[in-house]
Amino acid sequence: MGTIINGKELAEKLQDATAVEVKELEKAGLRPGLVVLLVGENAASQTYVKNKQLAAQRIGIHSKVMRYPATISEDELLKEIEHFNQAEEFHGILVQLPLPKHIDEEKVLLAIDPIKDVDGFHPMNLGRLFAGAPHMIPCTPYGIMKMFEAYEISLAGKQAVIIGRSNIVGKPMAHLLLAENATVTIAHSKTANLPELAKKADILIVAIGQGHFVTKEFIKPGAVVIDVGMNRNEAGKLIGDVKFDEVEPIAGFITPVPRGVGPMTITMLMQQTVEACRRQKLGE
Ligand code: GUN
Repeated sequence: MGTIINGKELAEKLQDATAVEVKELEKAGLRPGLVVLLVGENAASQTYVKNKQLAAQRIGIHSKVMRYPATISEDELLKEIEHFNQAEEFHGILVQLPLPKHIDEEKVLLAIDPIKDVDGFHPMNLGRLFAGAPHMIPCTPYGIMKMFEAYEISLAGKQAVIIGRSNIVGKPMAHLLLAENATVTIAHSKTANLPELAKKADILIVAIGQGHFVTKEFIKPGAVVIDVGMNRNEAGKLIGDVKFDEVEPIAGFITPVPRGVGPMTITMLMQQTVEACRRQKLGE
């Protein structure tokens, strides 16, 4: 039976430590601030943004959500970003993805001042990460690394397979694992013999966005299985990319959905907002 990695519990512990840091900054007259730009009415995005706000409140981070109609033009949105690049009270800017089709996501991410890019999606921050000298790190892979640390899961020399090649999860995850001396394979929906490949993994990270895609046939006994999936089944229930019930008995470690990776993503966002504040105000 696998050890269940309790992301929620670890997230709360780390958030408590960040809250202490925020109190310390307060003594120096500083309050970290995060502004979230939300375009349109995407239901999943609304939930994520609400959870981010709750975490910010819990920690004492000043947070503001700017809501825009799905019809906002790209130019208008870019102007808003420029405004917040200049706004002293916000040290972090997050544009919730996905954006409506008529807006060029790449242009928008490029417009965010890299020093305020707490999501770590700006090409400058991705480049720094890929070069091995990160500033801001995409929060989901960063949170997964914190899980490995907390559960004392060693990575050096291990075979890691990542299913999913997004800029937000798969690619940055690969670089973080590589920096810890894992041997990394990035697989995806077009990979041949995927179950066979996955079965070689000591560490299996699944971010493919298909509910219950990974079954027991993908799993090497004792493997560490990290499920980044957030899908709704026909009944509207939140499910992961991994068929937890059949994989858990074989795995060495496994994350549940919910209460796994999700709370860690939010926690790292908060931590990077505090770091961004320190960097901008204290020159650290
Ligand atoms: N949409 C889904 N996940 C994320 C995330 O981590 N950050 C942003 N900005 N949008 C997302």
